[in-house]
Amino acid sequence: MKSIKCDYQKEESVYNNKFQLLFNKLLKEGIEIKNIILLLTELENEFKAIAKSYGIAKTNYDIELSQGVAINPNLAAQCFSDYLRTHRFMLGVYRCVCDLRAATSNQLRILYAGTGPYATIILPLLYLFNPNDIAITAIEINPDSLGSVQRIMEFLGKQHYFESITLADATTYSPTGHFDIIISETMDKALSREPQLAIFSNLVQFLSPNGHLIPECIRVNLLASSIKLEKNVPYNQFDDKQTREINRQHRHHIENVICANIDFYKNYHLTPGTNIYLRTVSTKEISPLLNELLFITEVVVYKNIELLEDDSNITKKYIGYSFVDADRGKNFDVFYLNNQSPRLELSVKS
Ligand SMILES: C[S@@+](CC[C@H](N)C(=O)[O-])C[C@H]1O[C@@H](n2cnc3c(N)ncnc32)[C@H](O)[C@@H]1O
Repeated sequence: MKSIKCDYQKEESVYNNKFQLLFNKLLKEGIEIKNIILLLTELENEFKAIAKSYGIAKTNYDIELSQGVAINPNLAAQCFSDYLRTHRFMLGVYRCVCDLRAATSNQLRILYAGTGPYATIILPLLYLFNPNDIAITAIEINPDSLGSVQRIMEFLGKQHYFESITLADATTYSPTGHFDIIISETMDKALSREPQLAIFSNLVQFLSPNGHLIPECIRVNLLASSIKLEKNVPYNQFDDKQTREINRQHRHHIENVICANIDFYKNYHLTPGTNIYLRTVSTKEISPLLNELLFITEVVVYKNIELLEDDSNITKKYIGYSFVDADRGKNFDVFYLNNQSPRLELSVKS
């Protein structure tokens, strides 16, 4: 028993040194995208190996909720290799903690809703801050993902950073006290499928007066285009300014349809099965050559740390409507449908 503990401690200190170095490089100002990919691939391989050697099974069953789908551990683990997304979220959370630490010496309370099997987004904090600086509450609805996080944190000797790691539904979770930072990345493109809005609309009540939600804002813009003219970025190519520029030339920007930030969550309390009217948009000025209405998502993670179109899977274009002749030039109401299959919807006004 004694020698097992010794081995654990040896492993812990090897990982501590290795990961501390890795995160320092990863979160350095001005790091190039090719280096982000290299470092995150290395980290991902380490976590896959830890999960494998520790006998953590990753199942393929999604959990259907009344306000969206909780994706299965296998898919949630694959989010790691959406590299720019992983980097921006890690960096945003890290910078936010740095900024708050500069303003106070109190321990920061952090709530992380929807950890997946690796608790990816908060990993750098475990290597770049002391346990006296931060106290993390982690919740996850999928028991396999939760079990994986508990076992990995035990293996890495990082349990003391956590107030708790609990099985809970973040859309109804009611913790004690308030948090300085509340993090959730439970979204897909154009706010479809996953329950990000329902989660933040519940959790915002537990945010401290000067607290931060991460992501800070999810913006979705509506524009007209033609699928025939659209260029798509190659797989795993990020920050593709050229493609954005090519698409910009034929697209017609209509309007921003939602800006999901702290004010939005305070104004709209989402309940299952309700539709939220967002606004009415006009399609009067659109060229007859443009046949589709697209939703384009942009995520402000923290301050200037953003994910723009095609930087990640969650900021890919989403076709919201294809015109039939009778609809052209009409006004459309834009709704957010908060049901088992949440999404933005356009409804033509007669
Ligand atoms: C897109 S994955 C993100 C995983 C991880 N944060 C990451 O960045 O890789 C979303 C995770 O949120 C969990 N989740 C979804 N809805 C939830 C809910 N209502 N309450 C708690 N966890 C939820 C899913 O089970 C899944 O593990």
